Amino acid sequence: MAGIRGILLMLSIFVMVAAGVLSYDRPPPRKDFFIPRLKYLSSTSPEQVHISLVGPDKMRISWITKSDATAIVEYGTSPGESKFSATGATTSYSYVLYTSGKIHHVVIGPLKPNTIYYYRCSYDYTHEFSFKTPPPLFPIKFAIAGDVGQTGWTNSTLQHIAQSNYDIMLLPGDVSYADTVQPLWDSFGRLIEPLASQRPWMSTEGNHEIETIRFIHSTPFTAYNARWRMPFEESGSTSNLYYSFEVVGVHVVMLGSYTDFDPNSDQYKWLRGDLAKVDRQRTPWVVVNIHAPWYNSNTAHQGETESVDMKKYMEGLLYQARVDVVFAGHVHAYERFSRVYNGTEDKCGAVHITVGDGGNREGLAKDYIDPKPEISVFREASFGHGEFEVVNATHALFTWHRNQDDEAVVSDSVWLKSLSSDPACKV
Ligand SMILES: *[C@@H]1O[C@H](CO)[C@@H](O)[C@H](O)[C@H]1NC(C)=O
Ligand SMILES: *[C@@H]1O[C@H](CO)[C@@H](O)[C@H](O)[C@H]1NC(C)=O
Ligand SMILES: *[C@@H]1O[C@H](CO)[C@@H](O)[C@H](O)[C@H]1NC(C)=O
Ligand SMILES: [Fe+2]
Repeated sequence: MAGIRGILLMLSIFVMVAAGVLSYDRPPPRKDFFIPRLKYLSSTSPEQVHISLVGPDKMRISWITKSDATAIVEYGTSPGESKFSATGATTSYSYVLYTSGKIHHVVIGPLKPNTIYYYRCSYDYTHEFSFKTPPPLFPIKFAIAGDVGQTGWTNSTLQHIAQSNYDIMLLPGDVSYADTVQPLWDSFGRLIEPLASQRPWMSTEGNHEIETIRFIHSTPFTAYNARWRMPFEESGSTSNLYYSFEVVGVHVVMLGSYTDFDPNSDQYKWLRGDLAKVDRQRTPWVVVNIHAPWYNSNTAHQGETESVDMKKYMEGLLYQARVDVVFAGHVHAYERFSRVYNGTEDKCGAVHITVGDGGNREGLAKDYIDPKPEISVFREASFGHGEFEVVNATHALFTWHRNQDDEAVVSDSVWLKSLSSDPACKV
């Protein structure tokens, strides 16, 4: 008996190796690194610069100085040009023994589409930054990565994204992985500055942004809200934790998985109103970002209220509004579902995609529930990022890029047709 069992075991290992199952070892996690403040910066030099969209033609410029400095941005369309300027507000926060630098937020515009602007912050003329505004018409390309962190894998993800020629970055939560160690927020700001000062980065919060410590720091999202100020008022939201924005025919909703979402909550009522206002002539595409995925066949993060209950309460709203795609993070892996609603395939439901694979120190979520549910089309525990290129009112291409391959290598791709162009799914 033992002999036969041994032979069967050998045979099955041989089959698995031949099928490639054992041929690839998942890369191990990489450690956090810390990027210190550059020594040659003066105390009023801008650092950790990142930008975000505000309304149809404005941009918020966010940066930090070590000491008091003027919240002013001078900008123009050629290097060194200061044809325009705008001022804004300065804030800072305390967290246990840490006091942040001066955090400045200035909204500039109106800006022309598809134009490179050169800008300087706090009268520092030795550091000039530049960004490109989104195009006025399709196509438009979003890059998406959740659970980013600041490891060697994050560095690899950022290099790939930098090569992707994207217009807007979407962050479905868990950004810095500072996890209460506030200087890591500063380090993260420095790590992403080369990218985030050049293209708008639009985020929503994950569980790692909460950062409460019992009896010591009871206010949630202190660092996140101070540093990652998003355009919530413009969409009628009363919280930085959820909002929406529109860009070139795409209505993007950033939901908050870690604030109230039940039918009596402000977020629920806001979402219902926001989706009701979507004009499919103007924005044929609707995209939603959440942190904890509503569809997930990884063994990690099963059964959490942010997945189960938020889906139970809000999926109907998304379905009725014919949301095209839902991006999520939280699970450190990649997974793409078919169009689904209420647990089953539905041609008028959203495509759910988990991209919690940005590269943080916790490593990959490698174990999947077997057998694979039929609605899960592609799942893999590798670091990487997604790209969502909306080609026109009816067609968009989603691709997934692994870090162990070159940016040009597409590991998964799917053409999506907008639900607004499908007569069977008319709202
Ligand atoms: C990030 O990647 C760049 C380019 O490969 C490399 O020069 C740099 O040392 C990396 N940084 C870290 C902290 O790994
Ligand atoms: C969702 O599916 C469950 C069964 O899995 C069913 O009981 C429920 O009524 C369905 N809800 C809706 C809104 O269709
Ligand atoms: C939209 O893009 C798709 C894919 O490139 C193309 O097949 C289709 O003809 C385009 N539609 C229009 C109206 O241009
Ligand atoms: Fe998370």
